[in-house]
Amino acid sequence: MKYQFSQTPVDVPPVSTKYREIKTSIPAQETLKVLLDLKIYESRSMHGQLPIVWDRAEDFQVYDACGNCWIDFTSTIFVTNAGHANPQITAALQKTINNKLLHTYTFAHEIRAQFLKKLIEITPDQYEKAFLLSAGTEATECAVKLMRMHGQTISPTKLGIISFQGAMHGRTMGAEMLKGDPSQSEWIGYRDPNMHHLPFPYPWTAKNSFDKIYDWAKHFGEDMRALKVKGLNFDDIAGFMVESYLGWGAIFYPVAYIKALVDFAKEHDCLVTFDEIQGGFGRTGKLFVYQHYDVEPDLLCLGKALSGSLPLSAVVGSQKIMDLPEFGSMSSTHSANPLCCAAGLANLEVIETWNLVEESARKGEILHHSLNVLKEKYSARISYIFGKGLLAGIIFKHPKTGKPDGLFASRICEKAMQKGLLLVHTGRESIKIGPPLTIPDEVLEEGLDVIDEAIAETIQNSK
Ligand SMILES: Cc1ncc(COP(=O)(O)O)c(C=O)c1O
Repeated sequence: MKYQFSQTPVDVPPVSTKYREIKTSIPAQETLKVLLDLKIYESRSMHGQLPIVWDRAEDFQVYDACGNCWIDFTSTIFVTNAGHANPQITAALQKTINNKLLHTYTFAHEIRAQFLKKLIEITPDQYEKAFLLSAGTEATECAVKLMRMHGQTISPTKLGIISFQGAMHGRTMGAEMLKGDPSQSEWIGYRDPNMHHLPFPYPWTAKNSFDKIYDWAKHFGEDMRALKVKGLNFDDIAGFMVESYLGWGAIFYPVAYIKALVDFAKEHDCLVTFDEIQGGFGRTGKLFVYQHYDVEPDLLCLGKALSGSLPLSAVVGSQKIMDLPEFGSMSSTHSANPLCCAAGLANLEVIETWNLVEESARKGEILHHSLNVLKEKYSARISYIFGKGLLAGIIFKHPKTGKPDGLFASRICEKAMQKGLLLVHTGRESIKIGPPLTIPDEVLEEGLDVIDEAIAETIQNSK
C-alpha cells in the first residue's frame, strides 16, 4: 500500500525567503476542511498526495490560502512545463472564453485546425497527422489500436504488442495490460494473449556483468528469444510500446538496446510507438525523449505538457498509419475541445519562442551536477541519480541492507514540503524532480539546497 502522509498539522520552523514562505503549521489548520471533505466524498484511490491544499499556482510557485508558498519541483506531474498559469496560455484561454466557444464535439473549429497545424509543424518530418484525445491513457490505447490495424494489413495474426514490465501507460484496461504488473491488472480477470512483456534493461545489469563493454543489443536479442521460447511468433508482432524512460525512476534505456529494438521492428515489419506522455515537450532537454536514442519511432503518444494545463493528449504518426481507421470511425466527446486546443497552441508557441527546450538542457546541467554532489555526500543513502535535462530521479537505499528504501523517500518528500519545496512522491524508493522549465537558476539552486537539508534532517531523525 502507498505511504499515507499524516494530515495532522505539524508545527514546523517558519521559512521566509524570496521564493518560499512557511508561516503556519503544515498542513495549515484552515485547509483541513478541504482534506476532510475529500476523504469523505472521494474514493481513497485518488488520495496519497502530500497534504497541502493548492489555492493558486504561478510560474514555479504554489500557494495555499494561508500565506504559505512552495517552490514547485513537480510541474503538477510534468504538465506545466511552460510554468503554472503561463500568461500566454491564460490569455489564449480568456480569449476563447470571451468568444463563447467552449465545446464543439467533432464539429470543426478554427483553433483546432491551427493547433494541429502547429503540432505537426514542430514535430519531425515523419509525423504528418495527429488524432486528439483528452487523457494520456486514451492515447496509448489508440496507439495499440493503430499498431494492430497496421499489423492486420500484413497478416490476420499480426496482433502482438510488446511492452515493458513496470512501465506506466495509464489506468484504463488496455493501458493496465500494457504495464505487465499483475498487482495492477488482476482485476481484469484475463490476460490478453497477444500482449507480451520484456524485462526493463536496468543499468545495473551491466554492472553485474563480467563483460567490459556490456552488449545491450545481445541482451535485447536474448530477451526476445525468451519470449519466443514461451510461444511468441516474431512474425505475429504488430508493434512495440516503449515508455520513453522508465517513469518511476526516470531511468533511460541503453541507446544500443533501443537501436536493436528498432532494427528488430524494421526487420519484422512491426511498428514502434514511443510513449512520450511524461517526457515530451522539452522535459529532458530535447523536444522529445526518443531523440536521445537517435531513432525514429513510427508513432508518438503525447499528453501532459502538450497543453501545459488542460486535458489534452494526442497520437501522431505518418499519414499512412494515422489514416488506417475508416473515415469518421474515431471520435471522443471531449477531444479537440476549443479551450484545450487554445491552451495547446499557446503552449507550443511559448515552448518555441521562450527556448524552453534549450533552457531545460542548460538548467539540467545545474540540476544533475548538484544531485551528483549530493550522491557523493549521502553515498550510504543514495544509490543512483537518473534522468536528463530538467528531469531527475533520486533512488534511495537503506544504509545497512542496501535495499530500496521507499519509506525514506516518502519522508524526504514530507520534510521538503514542510520547508517549502514540492517534490514528486512516487510511492517507491525514488523521488522525482521536474520543475517548470521556466524556473530561474537561483530558484532551482535554492530548491536543491532544500533537498540537501531534507535528506540531512531525515537521516538525523531516523537515528
Ligand atoms: C508515460 C505515461 N504514459 C501514460 C500516462 C497516462 O496519462 P493520463 O494520466 O493522462 O491518462 C502517464 C501518466 O502518468 C505516463 O506517465
